[in-house]
Amino acid sequence: MKRVCIVGASGKLGRYMVRHALERGYEVVGVCRPQSVGKLDGYKERITIVPGATNDARVIERAVSDCDGVLTVLVPWGVEHYATATAQAVLDHAPPGARLIFSCGWHISRDGKDVYSWKLRLFVKVFGFLARAARVADLDDQVQACRRVFESGTRWTVVRGSDLEEGESQGLPVWSRHVGDPVLSSNLTRRVDFALFMVEALENDELIHEAPAIVGCMTPSARMGRRRKASPGTAP
Ligand SMILES: NC(=O)c1ccc[n+]([C@@H]2O[C@H](COP(=O)([O-])OP(=O)(O)OC[C@H]3O[C@@H](n4cnc5c(N)ncnc54)[C@H](OP(=O)(O)O)[C@@H]3O)[C@@H](O)[C@H]2O)c1
Repeated sequence: MKRVCIVGASGKLGRYMVRHALERGYEVVGVCRPQSVGKLDGYKERITIVPGATNDARVIERAVSDCDGVLTVLVPWGVEHYATATAQAVLDHAPPGARLIFSCGWHISRDGKDVYSWKLRLFVKVFGFLARAARVADLDDQVQACRRVFESGTRWTVVRGSDLEEGESQGLPVWSRHVGDPVLSSNLTRRVDFALFMVEALENDELIHEAPAIVGCMTPSARMGRRRKASPGTAP
């Protein structure tokens, strides 16, 4: 795989993905809103920037042509179905067979088998209500966007992020199919490692048609998971 497009390249997650992709030798095309092009100044000699709204199908069509992989930051900003239109544009225009990696949060469930803490359920309810009332964001938009991805016939992976923090990389996060798995209970990932997981997924065919929920590999719950695996006879 040689050429990848990063949709939403100017955001925090997006810029980390640009860095990881360049370090791995990919040719990078970045899509970002025109007012955010300056945020990519540090990379402008090394990547192709396509300015434009990520939900504009013509922008996406131009950016993803000839790409072997597309990394998409799905954000539910506004109430105009920004995330859904972004996902749809990528699904419609990425070359057949391209690896498609999307980002979202733990609150997205692929099969309804995730078990959420009351805190997360409350947060989604309250934040979702307030954000929609203020017309700032629409969490259902991200749900709908992911639904379209899950139902598509593409080679997708939807990476579901825990709470995020800044900091140096600690390594590739660990993942589980379902929120509620004790290995995830620390609910914290470094943003740089969320991006690492997205970029590494491009070459990991085991993640095709998976929606991994991730957590930092150095968090207490991830360490505990490793200890349990090392000594499977140990009582939990
Ligand atoms: N706690 C968390 O933050 C958290 C937790 C779990 C998962 N996630 C997931 O992580 C991803 C992004 O996180 P992040 O930390 O990188 O966020 P971020 O830096 O705030 O970036 C978000 C993206 O949204 C774009 N954006 C901002 N305002 C916008 C608007 N009004 N209309 C359209 N686009 C807008 C940004 O583009 P510009 O550069 O043009 O502003 C950027 O590409 C998302 O997939 C999110 O679901 C986040």
